[in-house]
Amino acid sequence: MQPVEIRPSIYWIGVNDRHTELFEGLWSIRDEGVSYNSYLIKDKKKVIIDLCSKMTTDELIDQITTFIDLVELDYIVINHLEPDHSGALKAIIQLAPSVKLLGSAKTREMLESFYGITENIQVVADGEELDLGSHKLKFFSTPFVHWPETIMTYEMTEKILFSCDGFGGYGALNGTIFDDRNVPLAWYEEQALRYYSNIVASFSKPVKNAIAKLAAFPVAIVAPSHGLIWRNSPKRIIDLYNTWAGYAGEPGDPAATLLYASMYGNTERMMETVAQGMADEGLPINIFNVAKDSISHILPSLWLRQGVMIGAPTYEGKLFPTMANVLSMAQRKHIFNKIAAGFGSCAWLGGGQREYNDWIVELKWQSFGSLEFKGAPTSDELEEGRRFGAAFARKVKERV
Ligand code: FEO
Repeated sequence: MQPVEIRPSIYWIGVNDRHTELFEGLWSIRDEGVSYNSYLIKDKKKVIIDLCSKMTTDELIDQITTFIDLVELDYIVINHLEPDHSGALKAIIQLAPSVKLLGSAKTREMLESFYGITENIQVVADGEELDLGSHKLKFFSTPFVHWPETIMTYEMTEKILFSCDGFGGYGALNGTIFDDRNVPLAWYEEQALRYYSNIVASFSKPVKNAIAKLAAFPVAIVAPSHGLIWRNSPKRIIDLYNTWAGYAGEPGDPAATLLYASMYGNTERMMETVAQGMADEGLPINIFNVAKDSISHILPSLWLRQGVMIGAPTYEGKLFPTMANVLSMAQRKHIFNKIAAGFGSCAWLGGGQREYNDWIVELKWQSFGSLEFKGAPTSDELEEGRRFGAAFARKVKERV
């Protein structure tokens, strides 16, 4: 995309990435893509706020040189050092050797450890202001949204919040950068929730702290470094992030995530009747086959919903490996305070449900029990599965 003027002398100069399949090497963005939003303020002092991945460096340099020669650049604000926002740094410094890098004290340490950069770094304090001519920037320390060095930058004249990962979302920008009426906002909000649950959710308390800290400052535009720029309803994305952060450790919505894996269809047959029982009670269910659905798409459901039904067979005396991976990720992402139940084929020996039980203890989820069967489920066992699903659904609804 070509650069876009956000306000006079303030430009989006970002790039889309439609090639990376796994963001951070983990999270599927194959179908959705992502944007690395970078911004240029062309005043008496010329500033870029956040950069892009190393892979998209050439494109970013083309965007910048639409407006200025790189040697004219005075500052680069590094809101966050993760390489999706700083991968272009070394190449740009070579073209702008006297540019000053602005960031937190922690950023200075990380510039050395990630890039070997020790020169031309200016640490900005929490609340410090920088006069650019007709614009003024104010820097806020917002640690752990997403890494410890993170800051946010507020442009005081136009009231634009450059929030980097905060209020960001997956999804390439499809022809427009703004939350305008013609844009599929529901899709972008879904991508923002997925980004939140994948990347930011573990840091929900710092997100709440940042929102509280910024509450005294009117925001006309939220300009994150991924996803849409919110100029029509900046409050919408701030409220969404605040709401999602509020789920941390709290009972979720009266609904369930049904995760299953199946080698030869036996556990899947049981899953179908368990799901029927849950639906009989009117409980909304999201069903995921963990062998093929990406963890990136599973996490939003786990984050928001109270119940987790887990169907997996025994595999070599243990829980089916792809299910164990999902439970391990739930632990890493601080998904607590759930109520869980399990089922699955124990083949001939069992062991899967034993490991499942260990995981539930590890996660400190409330256990509703489990249902195991040998080989393939009989019709009586399938009927029992339906009753099991219904009883679980009633429990989820009563607990919330
Ligand atoms: Fe978009 Fe934490 O990087």
